[in-house]
Amino acid sequence: MPPESSPTGRRTFLRHALATGAVGATAVASAIAPSPVPAHAQDAGVSAPESTRFEGPHQAGIYRPALPQSAACFAVFTLTAANGPQLQQLLQTITDRARALTAGGSPVAAGSGVPPSDSGVLGAVIPADGLTITVGLGHGAFAERFGLEGKLPKGLSTMRIFDDDVPDPAWLGGDILLQVCANAPDTVHHALRELTRATRAWMQPQWQINGFISPPRPSGASRNLFGYKDGIANPGESDGLVWIGPESGQPAWAVGGTFIVVRLIRMLVEFWDRVSLSEQDTMIGRRRDSGAPLDGNVESDAPDYKGDPNGAVIPLAAHIRLANPRTTLAESSRLLRRGYNYVLGTDATGNQNVGLIFACYQASIQDQFEAVQERLAGEPMTDYIQAFGGQYFIGLPGVTGDGYLGEGLFT
Ligand code: HEM
Repeated sequence: MPPESSPTGRRTFLRHALATGAVGATAVASAIAPSPVPAHAQDAGVSAPESTRFEGPHQAGIYRPALPQSAACFAVFTLTAANGPQLQQLLQTITDRARALTAGGSPVAAGSGVPPSDSGVLGAVIPADGLTITVGLGHGAFAERFGLEGKLPKGLSTMRIFDDDVPDPAWLGGDILLQVCANAPDTVHHALRELTRATRAWMQPQWQINGFISPPRPSGASRNLFGYKDGIANPGESDGLVWIGPESGQPAWAVGGTFIVVRLIRMLVEFWDRVSLSEQDTMIGRRRDSGAPLDGNVESDAPDYKGDPNGAVIPLAAHIRLANPRTTLAESSRLLRRGYNYVLGTDATGNQNVGLIFACYQASIQDQFEAVQERLAGEPMTDYIQAFGGQYFIGLPGVTGDGYLGEGLFT
């Protein structure tokens, strides 16, 4: 009897296959035949593109698609790869899978006597469904065993713990990030499942959190779980604040990438819901109903801090004013936010365990995320939030042609 035909033999075979990566590398690598004509709508600025192009000078999921998809998963892994070639194989496999999944298509029939090449969660033909897969590496990926210690980007460390944080080791750290976003949660789940089964020989799950954003209610930016429109004021791509440039002083391989900060922030909603609306508005600096700054009428209005130097209308300690005082000095600390709400049920005391997966993208963690976070220290909203997890990553430069993510690390 061949080893995989008996239950014990099958277990041994699977253990061996998983340990050697055979399941990932061979059985799954070409599991999807691409759609003959994938539709690319990522430049159209529409909210639900059929397919967001995987290739480009920069990864998708950051500025593309223009409007973030409604469902997301931030999955963080520990690298178990033993050496540089295995890490390289891992990044090649992720690239192959991500390229196929984001285009969509029909899974290759594996035959009735072997496990199917696809989970089947999305049916017989996998829709692209706006899927993007964005990959980042944490500090641990630049370890000596990979031969990458000389390629560590400047400023990439484990996530800094700030005053008032309540760090939970179960939600902190990690070597590699897969940020998976799509128009529906089952598309996100499907992609993550296909990615992990192809790669589990080289990385193991460390923490994972799923998120969602609301459709416009009733218009404009999505709302966070405090009820406020979130993601209104963001730098545009042409502002040059997000992508790592050739003059940045970062290693050449990192040009075209970006630093990704994922910060998990619980929102104490029961406590928040007991605060008057005017105090809530004052803490944020915007109106809950319209999203307009307190001195404006609509969400797209820019606050006029010069005309309100003492904070009579928008208090000096309002979240938006501290985060971006709109001075010349603070201009270079602006960052791109593309966060998601999360809901993890209730905690042991019956309170909602919910909050914000704060995800931001910038060319420098210290000059942007940390500078903003330092300005926010002790803001009035601090009493209603608890940052408990996350990590810093370098989002890899994009892939052109038939290259793979992180290729520049090995050349
Ligand atoms: C649970 C925690 C947080 C909540 C509920 C929250 C909420 C908000 C809201 C409602 C706005 C106004 C709408 C907008 O422009 O998007 C805003 C703006 C902003 N937030 Fe937060 N935020 C949180 C955490 C953070 C953190 C951790 C940072 C960075 C360290 C940050 C940085 C910013 C920035 C830069 C702006 C734009 C300010 C401007 O340019 O006017 N926020 N936030």
